Amino acid sequence: MNLVFWRDKSGRVNALLDDCPHRHAKLSLGKVVNGNIQCPYHGFEFDGSGRAVKVPALGSSSEIPKYLRAFSIPVYEAHGIIWLWYGSGGDRVSRRGSSTI
Ligand code: FES
Repeated sequence: MNLVFWRDKSGRVNALLDDCPHRHAKLSLGKVVNGNIQCPYHGFEFDGSGRAVKVPALGSSSEIPKYLRAFSIPVYEAHGIIWLWYGSGGDRVSRRGSSTI
């Protein structure tokens, strides 16, 4: 499983599968723009939850389809270590760092 990690504007670590949901480019070859990861191929931007927040071809007035999501991995950073959860039930792990499991 290949992942891409980056820090958003608040400094929080994010992790997504290294696979753009559009045409499967490696997100890890992109760059961080406004705290989001930008795909190197067509420039779609994804936030830490995997939601597409910008699709350049749609312009600024069109709504981005909700199904356009990258697969996000819950992460937790503490004591200089980044932990991640890729098993089932990951939706119950808080992205703020405290587990609800
Ligand atoms: S392949 Fe990522 S935006 Fe098209």
